[in-house]
Amino acid sequence: MNSKNQKVGISNFEKEVCEGLTAFPKYISSKFFYDKTGDALFQKIMALPEYYLTNAEFEIFTKHASGIISSFGSSEEGFDLIELGAGDGKKTKVLLQELENRNYDFSYMPIDISKNAINNLVENLSVEMPTVHVEGHIGEYFEILDRLKHISERKKVVMVLGSNIGNLLHPKAIQFLKELNNIMNADDLVFIGFDQKKDPQKILDAYNDKSGITAAFNKNVLTRINRELSANFNLDKFIHWEAYDPENGTAKSYLVSTEKQIVDIDLLSLEVHFEAWESIHTEISQKYDDDIVTWLTKESGLEVICSFADENKEYKNYVIQKTN
Ligand SMILES: C[S@@+](CC[C@H](N)C(=O)[O-])C[C@H]1O[C@@H](n2cnc3c(N)ncnc32)[C@H](O)[C@@H]1O
Repeated sequence: MNSKNQKVGISNFEKEVCEGLTAFPKYISSKFFYDKTGDALFQKIMALPEYYLTNAEFEIFTKHASGIISSFGSSEEGFDLIELGAGDGKKTKVLLQELENRNYDFSYMPIDISKNAINNLVENLSVEMPTVHVEGHIGEYFEILDRLKHISERKKVVMVLGSNIGNLLHPKAIQFLKELNNIMNADDLVFIGFDQKKDPQKILDAYNDKSGITAAFNKNVLTRINRELSANFNLDKFIHWEAYDPENGTAKSYLVSTEKQIVDIDLLSLEVHFEAWESIHTEISQKYDDDIVTWLTKESGLEVICSFADENKEYKNYVIQKTN
């Protein structure tokens, strides 16, 4: 397991928090949600009735496991299954089990910025699926993507599940897909989940559950700044706010300051001034349709081979290759 990048992640945390909280409007990247508490809160979110994404992708994997695995290649071919932002790997295990059952020659390489997530996943798989060869990597997608080129000589199937790509606005998503393209050989594949446009109320509810777990998840980033950067955010003086624009398919999460206040971040020697009702933008959860996915892949020199949808067609996983 590689822990070098965890250190890079921590210094990025200081730098990016400083940049985001001194910018106008203020922002903090959602990649910083995931410490030990954030990982546990996200697991609770995945179990919420409002958070339809996990169930939809789980349904796709259980119903179409055979078709999905066949689309990756033949059992003799041999490949590395690389997952970007693997989290707890709950859904991935369905695919790993199918690969095992069909005697595929593969190794599994989960990558995640959260050290806690990778440690738990690697440990858990060593107990639940001891015959699968697992190699966990801790770090940021873009840093690790560059190193993936040299990870092995075998065919690569790169998975991005949970609509993780939705954390990026279209220009960044194209940059992300182009970087994937750069590390791909002709026969490599990307298997990627894109949450689809749907009833705007359903989308709003998914990111603003009644029990307040998503609000706690969003606010946890302030607790993390308090702990790791010696700050004094008072969580009671911020509210979680969610907005969805059905025109461009972008859901956005914010933390909104309920009063004029000053927050000290000692490790950054920074005083952050908030006006009453000023926001910090914390997350994007982009929604898609087939035309947008086709456009994003075309712009990145990639093309869709096939896709798998849940019964309600609310979520889709696409198999993508380099354009010939
Ligand atoms: C929304 S969760 C989804 C987890 C998993 N893909 C799933 O579908 O259940 C996002 C995961 O990606 C990781 N992550 C977010 N941004 C990342 C980044 N820039 N680089 C690496 N991992 C990242 C988080 O730590 C978290 O585990």
